[in-house]
Amino acid sequence: MSVQRISTGIPGLDAMLHGGLIPGRVYLVKGAPGTGKTTLAMHFVMAGVENGENVLYVTLEEPAENLKADMSKLGFKLYDPHFSLIDATPTAERYVLITDFFEEFAENIEKMTDAIKRQFQEKRYTRIVIDPITMLKLTATKEIEYRRAFLSFIKSMMRLKTTVLLTSEVERTDIEEYLVSGVIELKAFNTSGRLTRGVRITKLRGSSFDDAIRPYEITDNGIVVYHDRMVTLP
Ligand SMILES: Nc1ncnc2c1ncn2[C@@H]1O[C@H](COP(=O)(O)OP(=O)(O)OP(=O)(O)O)[C@@H](O)[C@H]1O
Ligand SMILES: [Mg+2]
Repeated sequence: MSVQRISTGIPGLDAMLHGGLIPGRVYLVKGAPGTGKTTLAMHFVMAGVENGENVLYVTLEEPAENLKADMSKLGFKLYDPHFSLIDATPTAERYVLITDFFEEFAENIEKMTDAIKRQFQEKRYTRIVIDPITMLKLTATKEIEYRRAFLSFIKSMMRLKTTVLLTSEVERTDIEEYLVSGVIELKAFNTSGRLTRGVRITKLRGSSFDDAIRPYEITDNGIVVYHDRMVTLP
C-alpha cells in the first residue's frame, strides 16, 4: 500500500515529489530573495482551501496588506473563510498597542508553537505556513536552544496532525534541513544575462523523489514547474 500524499498545489512539483507531500510533517522551502517562496507557500495552503480544509498562514516579514495585494494578482482567493492569515510582522503600532495578539507568533519559536496550539482550540488547521522561519531563528540566543525548540515545534505539529511548510533564506538553514522531513530549494541562475529558475528537492523522508533540477516559471497564475524538462545552463 502506498502512503497517502497531499498536493503542494503545483502539479509539476507534486510529480517531482512522486505524488506530493506526506501529510502531518514539516517541510522547508529555501531560496534567495524573490525566488518564489511565498508564492509556493500560497499554492500549498490554497490547495487545502480548495478541498474545504482550514489553513493558517503566518507572515513574519511581508505585511498582510502587501501579501494580499500581491497574491490576489496571481489569482489566489485570499478572502475565503477557510484561509486564516496572521500578520506577525513588526510594526510601529506594536509598541503602542499594549496587548497585540499576534506578537507571540514573532517573539521566538517556543511562543509561536504555543500560539499555534492555542489557535487549534478554535479550529483545526490541516496546513500551516510560517513565512519565513528566519525571523524566529534570529531571536534565539544559543544554537542548542534553537535546535531543541525547533525539534519540539516539529513534534507539536506532528501531534496536531497538520502539514507545515516553512520558508527560509538560503544561508544558515543547516539545523532546519536536518530536522525537517523534506527540503525544496528554489534557485535563480543568471544565464547570459537572462534569469533561469530551477527547483530541486534535496530531501524527502519516507519517499523516493526526482533529484534533478527542473525549470519553473512565475506566471500570472503563480508557479509552474516543468517536471519533464531539464534546466539548460550555458
Ligand atoms: N505575474 C508575474 N509574472 C512573473 N513574475 C512574477 C509575477 N508576479 C510576481 N512575479 C515574481 O515573483 C517573485 C516574487 O515571488 P515571492 O514573493 O513568492 O518570492 P519570495 O522568495 O517569497 O521573495 P522574498 O525572499 O522577498 O520573500 C518576484 O521576483 C516577482 O517578480
Ligand atoms: Mg516571501
